[in-house]
Amino acid sequence: MTEIRIEGKVAGRVVGGATPTDVVPLLEGEQEVFLVYDAHLAPAASALLEAFPAIRSALALETSEEEKNMDSVLLIARSLLEAGASRKALLLAIGGGITTDVAGFAASVYKRGIRYANIPTTLLAQVDAGIGGKTGVNFEDYKNMLGVIVQPVFTFVCSSLLATLPRREFLSGASELLKTFLIEDRDGRYGRTVSLLSSGSPDFGSDIWQETVFEAASVKAGIVSRDPYEHGERRKLNLGHTFAHAIEHEARLRGDDITHGEAVSMGILLSARLSDRLGLSKGMEGRLRQDFLQAGLPVESPYPPEVLAGAMEKDKKAEGGFVHFVLLEDIGRVVVRDLSVAMALKALTDN
Ligand code: GLY
Repeated sequence: MTEIRIEGKVAGRVVGGATPTDVVPLLEGEQEVFLVYDAHLAPAASALLEAFPAIRSALALETSEEEKNMDSVLLIARSLLEAGASRKALLLAIGGGITTDVAGFAASVYKRGIRYANIPTTLLAQVDAGIGGKTGVNFEDYKNMLGVIVQPVFTFVCSSLLATLPRREFLSGASELLKTFLIEDRDGRYGRTVSLLSSGSPDFGSDIWQETVFEAASVKAGIVSRDPYEHGERRKLNLGHTFAHAIEHEARLRGDDITHGEAVSMGILLSARLSDRLGLSKGMEGRLRQDFLQAGLPVESPYPPEVLAGAMEKDKKAEGGFVHFVLLEDIGRVVVRDLSVAMALKALTDN
C-alpha cells in the first residue's frame, strides 16, 4: 500500500491500493463503520461488506447533480440515526465526487461532526473531489452553495477502478488531471499526461497510471495541506473553474448536457485566452487547445463570454464584484489575479 503523507497535516493522508477491499487494514480498530455508496457500485460495496463484516450499515445513494441536495444529506443522517451511530462513528463513502461531497457534508453535521473517509471511484474524485475536504450540496441552481471544509481521515485511491468508467466520465476527470499538472508540473508530468491520454486504450492497472493518479493526488494534497481553507494558494486549484461554473449554470438553464469536467476543460481554455490577452503568457491558448484536443477534451464553450458574465458575478467566490481569476504564466506556473467580470469580459472580447 502506497501512502502520501504531507508532513503534520491530516489533509495529506492519501493511501493507494489495488482494489477497494485493500482498505480493510485502515478500518481495523474502528468500532462503528457506516458505508454510503453510489447505487451503481453495489458490487464494490458488497465486496467491502464481505471483507469487513463489522460495517454496521450500508446506504445506497442516487448520484445525479439533481440529487446532490439537502434531501440526500438528510437521508444519510436519518440512516445513521436509525443505525445508532454515535460520535465515534466513521462514515466511509465509495463513489464519485457527488457521493463523497454529500457523505462528507452529512458526516460533518451529524451530531456536530463525525469522521469520514473516501474511496473515490472516478478519476475526477481520485485527483480532485475526494481529496481536500470540500464537502457540500447544490442549492438554488448553484453548485456547492452549501457546505463546509472538513478533511476526511483518509482517501483511498485505486486507479484500477478507472477501467470501468464510461469514456465520457473518464475524460471528465482527465481535465482535472491536466489542470493539476498545469498548476504544478512535476518533471514534465503535464506533457507526459497529455501523451498518456492520447495513447489509445489505457491500462489503468499499469504502473504509469497508478503513478500519474497518485502524483496528481499528491500535488493536490500538498496544496490543501498548506492552505486548507482557501485563503491563498488553494485558489490555484480553481484554474478554469470560474468559467466552468458559469458554463454549467448556463447549461442547466438551457437544459444542455455538459459535464463538470467538460466545462472545466472549456474553462481552462478561456483562462488561457485571458492570460494571453492580459499579456501574462504568449500562445498559451493555442498550445493548450492542441494538447486538450489531442487528449480528447472539448475546448470550445458553446456560450460566448458575454453570456457567462452574469453567472460569474454570482459565483460564490466573487468578492465585492471582483473574482479571483486563476491565470497561466507558463505550464506549471499559475497566478491569481482579482479582476472585475467587466474587465475580464473586455479583455476576452476586445479585438
Ligand atoms: N476543487 C478545488 C479544491 O478542492 O480546492
